[in-house]
Amino acid sequence: MVITCPHCRKEHTIDEKHLPTNVAKVRCKFCKEQFAIKKPAASQKATPSAQKKNEGPRKIAVTLSKGGVGKTTTAVNLASGLALAGFNVLLVDTDTQGQSSFMLGVKPQAGLTEFVNDELPLDEIMIKARDRLWLLAGGKSLAGLKRVIDRKDFGGEMTLREKLSTIDKQFDYVILDTSPGWDPLIVNVLFYVDEVLTPVSLEVMTLQGLVEFLKSMSSIQKYNKDVALKYILPTFHDKRVKKSNAILKKLESLYGDHICTPIRYNVRLSEAPAYGQTIYEFAPGSPGAQDYRELIRKIADNPKLFT
Ligand SMILES: Nc1ncnc2c1ncn2[C@@H]1O[C@H](COP(=O)(O)OP(=O)(O)OP(=O)(O)O)[C@@H](O)[C@H]1O
Ligand SMILES: [Mg+2]
Repeated sequence: MVITCPHCRKEHTIDEKHLPTNVAKVRCKFCKEQFAIKKPAASQKATPSAQKKNEGPRKIAVTLSKGGVGKTTTAVNLASGLALAGFNVLLVDTDTQGQSSFMLGVKPQAGLTEFVNDELPLDEIMIKARDRLWLLAGGKSLAGLKRVIDRKDFGGEMTLREKLSTIDKQFDYVILDTSPGWDPLIVNVLFYVDEVLTPVSLEVMTLQGLVEFLKSMSSIQKYNKDVALKYILPTFHDKRVKKSNAILKKLESLYGDHICTPIRYNVRLSEAPAYGQTIYEFAPGSPGAQDYRELIRKIADNPKLFT
């Protein structure tokens, strides 16, 4: 299995036969720091069959009210990376900016709004963006959808859930990108998903934003008991910047188990969208691609992926 040292990010190939059954502490031979690793269960496979089909997909919202923290970058590279790893993935863009299509280099004529309003046949709405990756696009038309949700006297917050649950069984993962701020569509997303992944930028002090977001989320949890904050993903990590390390340490002390290995600041991640390419297509060997592969191994709970 391949593991990445959380301290220096060097990758190590380890023969798992030599590991004890549960968690083991290992020392990185490059930076000499210790870290814990988990031996994969014997039944884990690097294919979609690792998911139990009859249980429906894993539904993950990539969300935080603060803007520019890497939500869309994460949603697109998480969804496309899971598809590369062999899973069937639906990416749902719930943002009026519609950046997911741009980042994937596709120009859908319709998307989530038309899907919810039953305006067109599904095969004209759901775009096959890559092998095993499907997209329900966002964009300006979502403003109208928000009004439709607002005008409902009853059950507006269930609109997305009711519609997506008619098609989501065919997928292993449904990943939802959200807009910054807090609006009826984000509430709808939180009524649909079970898992929340919040990217937290280490460039600026976003801790306050995270705390505020978690308060809003807890108001939803009163009604949707299944939704939980699962992953906090530090983004824009720059080891040379003291503040970046200080915020990371603070996050680790506050939210220990939820913290994922950070995504480093990597200019390749900001260049890829202009070419309509994912980071695996644009710069497969870049730190950005390595970091998102590591995130996918964590989320799929399978250290063998991409090895
Ligand atoms: N790790 C990174 N290193 C360098 N640039 C990055 C990184 N992650 C994202 N970017 C760039 O930062 C900008 C903001 O990222 P992104 O659009 O993913 O944020 P967002 O949270 O979706 O923003 P919004 O709240 O407006 O929807 C983009 O130009 C993106 O290419
Ligand atoms: Mg975005």
